[in-house]
Amino acid sequence: MKTSFFWIMAGIGIAACAGAAPPSAASTAAQIAALRQEVDALKKSAYHPELGEQMLILQIRHARLWFAGEAQNWNLATFEVQELQEAFDAVVTHNPDDANLQPERLADVLPAMTRGPISDLRKAVDARDKAAFEKAYDGLSAACTGCHHVAGNDMLVIQRPKTPLLDNLRVTPAK
Ligand code: HEC
Repeated sequence: MKTSFFWIMAGIGIAACAGAAPPSAASTAAQIAALRQEVDALKKSAYHPELGEQMLILQIRHARLWFAGEAQNWNLATFEVQELQEAFDAVVTHNPDDANLQPERLADVLPAMTRGPISDLRKAVDARDKAAFEKAYDGLSAACTGCHHVAGNDMLVIQRPKTPLLDNLRVTPAK
């Protein structure tokens, strides 16, 4: 029983191989071209956030971080610093050659300007040091404004926020 089953399967295998002609170079090239077209179409239909849109997210996180630090909610502050870093990374991913920064490359300018302040913030938050946090926070704001300056947008000055825009996320630390 077992042996005959094996031979039947082997026979089917051989028949299948004989039936499928090896693809010609021309048809392979055509398939690759078709796939390329599909990839290009997918790239176009994918979500591409504009820089201005991404800046609004940065603005919210920047503000939220301030209130978290002032409330000495270090867990929330740690979270917001990480979110800010991820938001910066997303800017580089989606707008590496933004026209505003030309002839500089945003992908070079952004990390160079923000790496230091983010690292200072991480240290201050890890140390649960409010004074160091405030200093590092001002350093971050200066980096934001500095890049706006490089981009020729001197009117975009980033500062410490005074009023929370949204207050449905509690900033006081959990008891
Ligand atoms: C790599 C340079 C760069 C960095 C770093 C940067 N920005 Fe910007 N930002 C820009 C540019 C360029 C624009 C103008 C975008 C446009 O023309 O749509 C802008 C615009 C803005 C705007 C105006 C958005 C609007 O539509 O009103 C805000 C707010 C803003 N940035 C906040 C921030 C904050 C907060 C930070 C730091 C946490 C920051 N930005 C860091 C380059 C930068």
